[in-house]
Amino acid sequence: MHTRTLAPDAAGITDAARLIADGQLVAIPTETVYGLAGDALNSTAVARIFEAKGRPSFNPLIVHVADSAAAQTYGVWSDMADRLAQAFWPGPLTLVLPLRAGAGLSPLVSAGQDSVAIRVPAHPIAQALLAASGAPLAAPSANPSGRISPTQPQHVLSGLDGRIAAILDGGPCDVGVESTIIGLTGTPILLRPGGLPVEAIEAALGAPLALHSEHDAITAPGQMASHYAPTATMRLNADSSRAGEVMLGFGGTPGAELDLSLSGDLIEAAAALFGHLHTLDVSGAKAIAVAPVPERGLGRAINDRLRRAAAPKPD
Ligand code: TXA
Ligand code: MG
Repeated sequence: MHTRTLAPDAAGITDAARLIADGQLVAIPTETVYGLAGDALNSTAVARIFEAKGRPSFNPLIVHVADSAAAQTYGVWSDMADRLAQAFWPGPLTLVLPLRAGAGLSPLVSAGQDSVAIRVPAHPIAQALLAASGAPLAAPSANPSGRISPTQPQHVLSGLDGRIAAILDGGPCDVGVESTIIGLTGTPILLRPGGLPVEAIEAALGAPLALHSEHDAITAPGQMASHYAPTATMRLNADSSRAGEVMLGFGGTPGAELDLSLSGDLIEAAAALFGHLHTLDVSGAKAIAVAPVPERGLGRAINDRLRRAAAPKPD
């Protein structure tokens, strides 16, 4: 794939919006760091983000929206959320809110969890793309997994050239570190220090924030062994289903109730993963047998999530 560099003018924004609508990825400047943006409503686009970054597991991603009204479409709002949004949006603050189910976000964005991280970026180019595309944009930092976050277009290209459709060239980022992440699914908690000082947030809330370490086990669900565990038990690397099991296939497994990808495409499989697990789980199946998924590319992330889903459940 040839990665195009788009100028941040009307024509560049229009081209970028067209690529986003087509499920492609565009690196975009934000005031914190460059983000790797894809349509958060499109599971294939979101799967491509993980593929381009080479992420070995599906960490939940931040959803970028134009304003608080759009944030309330996807996250459950509260007085606390309103206070922080009024004080600091647009800006380098991400709020983790209870997910509004049925609002259309790809389950891959929240890694199958019932919360969602949302931020309103201040950068005019990010805002222009949000307006032109009309879609919420899932965007992690635009670097390969394990590398440092990019604050200049050249950083993005050195890691992702040839792996993404385009980059909107906005020059260097102002803030240079990622957004501060506050969890608002319970007691307000600092999940990641970042570009907005904690003191400013505490002043706006009128109360101290809990620190992540005090709540590790509950607030870092992506790190838990048993995460997005279906109520059904799961048996992995199964060649066929046994009595009492429903089969989740891959690559056209004979007799499968659902198949992650009939053609064995890992991007398609990643896009389908959480939705299919959920469908089988709510079908009332007591046990799910899952066909082997190859341990390469996105297959590593798929297998990571399958292993977590299959892990013994905590009481
Ligand atoms: O400044 C930023 O926040 C940049 C720019 C591009 O906006 N984005 C960014 O995204 O840093 P990323 O994917 O590199 O970091 C996302 C962080 C991860 O640590 C992830 O675990 C956390 O957000 N996160 C996302 N959704 C979450 C959720 N539902 N609950 C808890 N943490 C969540
Ligand atoms: Mg990052």
